[in-house]
Amino acid sequence: MDRSGELNEVAEKLGIGHYQRHVLLCVGDQCCSPAEGQAAWEALKSELKNKGLSLSQAPNACYRTKAGCLRVCKSGPIAVVYPEGVWYHSMTADRIPQLVQQHLIEGQPLADLVFAENPLSLSNHDEERKDQE
Ligand code: FES
Repeated sequence: MDRSGELNEVAEKLGIGHYQRHVLLCVGDQCCSPAEGQAAWEALKSELKNKGLSLSQAPNACYRTKAGCLRVCKSGPIAVVYPEGVWYHSMTADRIPQLVQQHLIEGQPLADLVFAENPLSLSNHDEERKDQE
């Protein structure tokens, strides 16, 4: 099998192409301790699995990535959710169930833990470019 065939197979197995959101979670060790980061990561994995959002084609399917550093390096664990580009501080294991339920399923970010927003949208970028022309 050629490489793109193998990669297509991997992507299909991972459900890539069906996700609505992507969560990146930093596991430290500067924004939080490695133990705190790992606990948050394990909570995210199990919560996404329990809600049927991981490796799924469900309407709120969510991909997850464990990050070594998101360059904020304080008040972690730091997490960011795309496509909204909502950045969270203090995303400890005990808060993960609320993140999954409230943001990933109900679409309502946890306002008291948000410290920045950077939605990614090519159409916004295109509109800004048009405004500058
Ligand atoms: S170590 Fe977590 S953001 Fe840098």
